[in-house]
Amino acid sequence: MAVILGLESSCDETAAALVDSDRTIIAHKLAGQEEHHRPYGGVVPEIAARAHAEKMTPLVESVFADAGMTLADVDAIAATAGPGLIGGVMVGLVTGKALALATGKPLIAVNHLEGHALSPRLVDADLGFPYLLLLVSGGHCQILRVDGVGRYARLATTIDDAAGEAFDKTAKLLGLGFPGGPAVEAAARQGDSAAVPLPRPLAGSKEPHFSFAGLKSAVLRASDSGQYAPQDIAASFQQAVVDCLRDRLNHALDRTDRLPALVVAGGVAANGAVRAMLQDVAAQRDMRFVAPPLWLCTDNAAMIGWAGAERFAAGLTDPLDIPARPRWPLDDQAPPVRGAGVKG
Ligand code: KG4
Ligand code: ZN
Repeated sequence: MAVILGLESSCDETAAALVDSDRTIIAHKLAGQEEHHRPYGGVVPEIAARAHAEKMTPLVESVFADAGMTLADVDAIAATAGPGLIGGVMVGLVTGKALALATGKPLIAVNHLEGHALSPRLVDADLGFPYLLLLVSGGHCQILRVDGVGRYARLATTIDDAAGEAFDKTAKLLGLGFPGGPAVEAAARQGDSAAVPLPRPLAGSKEPHFSFAGLKSAVLRASDSGQYAPQDIAASFQQAVVDCLRDRLNHALDRTDRLPALVVAGGVAANGAVRAMLQDVAAQRDMRFVAPPLWLCTDNAAMIGWAGAERFAAGLTDPLDIPARPRWPLDDQAPPVRGAGVKG
């Protein structure tokens, strides 16, 4: 059994966790930065980096205190090395490198997306490879076939905005606050999802990808028209996202060999309407549906520690001069897609 220290700082959550290879989350801590970013309605990279720098070391100390452990009890140190906001990524990665150098323990540079992609296996010991993964977060919207640790085939990605980004921008437009996803979901519960006619970008398209930019513009027009209540716009927007996700998933499932499990990860997986749709698609396809608990869907360090445990078991450790990477696709063989804002 191996004990891994996981560190996460790629966006706006500073997090540290101790996880073992038997799937025990020994301790995990998280410091959000919502109050720092709320006045700007979005994550400000420089403010995020500074907050990570302030919070990372106390968080590491506090997970060890919670666990009643010291660095001597750890087998390896796993830190997110990208993709993400580079100043923040560097805080966690440099902390991980310093601890590895000081203790002589191996460093594991974790791709944040692999953290999300493997997180369902932390809570579900029966989830084996391969599985179909919908990865929906603030920075990414992808469908991947997960064949093993470090082995991903990207089947679809977004040609513009990520799904979470669309939620965040819609929340900002409607004045619902930050972070946007939970705010839109709460407003949508009070609204009528058929009230506002909104497009389903790329639904029915022959190509596999997602697009959400046109939806955002349509939300802006609906809001500016003054004809609709914000709750109705929120509900109609959420329904449009759910419909797009369903259409693109069915497109991918129609074109891949049958996979035993449909898995969701990333912050948008916390959305109840998204989960309900996925459950339905899985049932129709006779697939098992696996979704991590809500706290494990949004950014955290337990998933980084677990990805570290999976990589450590596979003998995958990294040199101390490994760089932080703002961009780092899971599938580096995936062909480029058209679109101005492609994020890999
Ligand atoms: O995975 P995550 O914590 O960070 C990234 O790696 O991006 O995802 C954050 C995203 C944000 O865009 C947030 O608005 C969205 O996940 N999100 C939600 C919900 N909770 C978080 N979107 C829709 N409904 C939610 N309940
Ligand atoms: Zn994330």
